[in-house]
Amino acid sequence: MAERILVTSALPYANGPVHIGHAVEYIQTDIYVRFLRSCGKDVVYFCADDTHGTPIEINAAKQGLKPEEFIARFHTEHQRDFHDLDIRFDYFHSTNSPENRHYAELIYGRLKEKGDIERRDIEQAYCEKDRRFLPDRFIKGTCPNCKAPDQYGDACEKCGKAYAPTDLIEPRCALCGTPPVRKNSEHLFFKLSKHADFLQSVLRKPGFLHPGLATQLQGFFEKGLADWDISRDGPYFGFAIPGETDKFFYVWLDAPIGYIATTEKWAKETGKAKSALDYWGADQDTRIIHFIGKDIVYFHALFWPAVLNVAGLHIPNEIKVHGHLTVNGEKMSKSRGTMVPVRDYLDQLDPTYLRYFYAANLGPGVEDLDLNLTAFRERVNGELVNNVCNLANRALSLLAGPLEKRLAPGRAEGPGRTLVESALARVPEVRDAFEKLEYRNAIRVITDIASAANAFVQTQAPWAGVRKPETAEAARADLSDAADVVYLLGALLAPVTPRLSEKLFAQLGAPPLTFQALEGAKYPLLDRSRPTGTPEPLLPRLEQEKVNGIIKAPPSEQAPKAAEAKAAGGGKEGKEKKAEKKAAAAQPATQASPGAGAGEASGEIEYADFAKVVLKSGKVLAAEKVKDADKLLKLTVDVGEAAGPRTIVSGIAEAYAPEALTGRRVVVVANLKPRKLKGIESRGMLLTAGPGGKDLSLLEPGDVPPGSEVK
Ligand code: 2FM
Ligand code: ZN
Repeated sequence: MAERILVTSALPYANGPVHIGHAVEYIQTDIYVRFLRSCGKDVVYFCADDTHGTPIEINAAKQGLKPEEFIARFHTEHQRDFHDLDIRFDYFHSTNSPENRHYAELIYGRLKEKGDIERRDIEQAYCEKDRRFLPDRFIKGTCPNCKAPDQYGDACEKCGKAYAPTDLIEPRCALCGTPPVRKNSEHLFFKLSKHADFLQSVLRKPGFLHPGLATQLQGFFEKGLADWDISRDGPYFGFAIPGETDKFFYVWLDAPIGYIATTEKWAKETGKAKSALDYWGADQDTRIIHFIGKDIVYFHALFWPAVLNVAGLHIPNEIKVHGHLTVNGEKMSKSRGTMVPVRDYLDQLDPTYLRYFYAANLGPGVEDLDLNLTAFRERVNGELVNNVCNLANRALSLLAGPLEKRLAPGRAEGPGRTLVESALARVPEVRDAFEKLEYRNAIRVITDIASAANAFVQTQAPWAGVRKPETAEAARADLSDAADVVYLLGALLAPVTPRLSEKLFAQLGAPPLTFQALEGAKYPLLDRSRPTGTPEPLLPRLEQEKVNGIIKAPPSEQAPKAAEAKAAGGGKEGKEKKAEKKAAAAQPATQASPGAGAGEASGEIEYADFAKVVLKSGKVLAAEKVKDADKLLKLTVDVGEAAGPRTIVSGIAEAYAPEALTGRRVVVVANLKPRKLKGIESRGMLLTAGPGGKDLSLLEPGDVPPGSEVK
């Protein structure tokens, strides 16, 4: 029997809307699942709401709701948002479900049976007024390091230092402001330390985790793995621990068990499996793949496999980790309006654009993905609208109009056949790229195929031929070959842009084409005896105004919060403001030393001084790493000069892979004295924004020819 694959995305907290940062993961996973399915694999995709814990309990209370009512609202919203983003789970469940209670109790019972649960007294902060223990995030005080007021109990948002809540100066309860007291309580611990050898062997399994991350986790073993506190005292929204009084499972114990509970619910509802154990039984021939963000690797790669193993269940085969989303090169922020709820995005724009852009920028690594709004518009318009959709429009409207929806039979030879056969020859590259999560490479090949077909149509100029009887059949044959490529593009893009592919298939009058059907497929791809469909507009161009419109600083939050931050003399908003300022001062990324005057960046200069700097738009023709210099890239940049392109050495290697730069538009400081870096003469500088290192974003001049002046 073919291997069965179970794929999950991390469970969103039922504590707020899903935003475009979360969407990176769901889109990445959904593309993967659609791709596997298109290859004919037996795959199921599960997710659920993560519903337990103190923040949800407290937020519900603030709204005068029972936690069950509070999470129900997000359950409905999340399902609708995922659906409208074209994410297709086989089941979306909830951790607050009978199935989850059942598996949480079953697993806990097994851990206990094996002697892996231990009782220990611990001392914690307690609020006598609220009569509850306070998790770190519910204690605030002055940072012991930089003395910033109003910092949480786990880390300072101002200086970044991590500490214990006991280290805070003048700690107080974040709910009522009362200074907490220390209080003892008995907690239950899972003896994670017993499983260090097992976990190390799991981490060494090829394909389990990105090797860089596996190495990072070694730090935990070197320090000695700590046992894991899995209980919380009431009041707590969660499952009561059997046999205990007023003790509940910690949310992070029952959250991943939600993956199993969702499988169970799906099995019961669809009858497609007897129970979750058809997938999660230790001896089952299943492949379990979790997609997660880089912030929760610890839970998935250490606790989870150990818990599953002790409980005699199937441990995950692969944990695929992605980076976070930045918007215009900066961390998302509520106050700046860049933490855009998926619903707000969907109210304005088709999900196809976002799915495409994320795919075009996603690789298998954990580097952050930047939603630069200009790049978003340019890539979507340049590659999807002007290239893929334009090809389809041209071919389908001529076929449907003057040629009466009839295709020509395949030809024995000629450029049209060569075009289709060359495109087919690239399918393995696309397949391989999807398989390895190198979506950006898949997109590159797909857009190459579309460009070649557009060039073919341009050369053959069938619009001239279709109206004359003596040339109409040759034009029909050319357009039929172009339609074959459209059909292929529909199949290759279907995991990424399913809506668009559906339209393409319908307008071609052809059944959906899958990766499985493409194995061994031959020219001609379309059944040429069938009529084509009716062309309709496929995808409108993205307008900058609309794109900018997705970012709206929440009016209810903006003014009062800014005032609050000012009054507090810093805090979260203060920090964001500073980041904004830093980014606004676009900084040159070349030639290491900013030179004299950098310290006066805030001083005023005359316009004449500014006018001395010649800024030009450029286009990167090639990029490569500089030997023995981790930070430097050598770029060949067309600055529109008759003398030819310039060589520029730029300190952006930590932020950009060389292959991601070709074709990219940049802003060049064009009248700097040439300077040698690592023996290479650099003639100019590229402008970037951001603090540096990995967090740098190249400034883009937009759609203007190389050499255009930037003022
Ligand atoms: O970090 C989070 O958003 C968690 N709600 C993810 C849980 S994933 C799984 F373990 F349930
Ligand atoms: Zn309190």
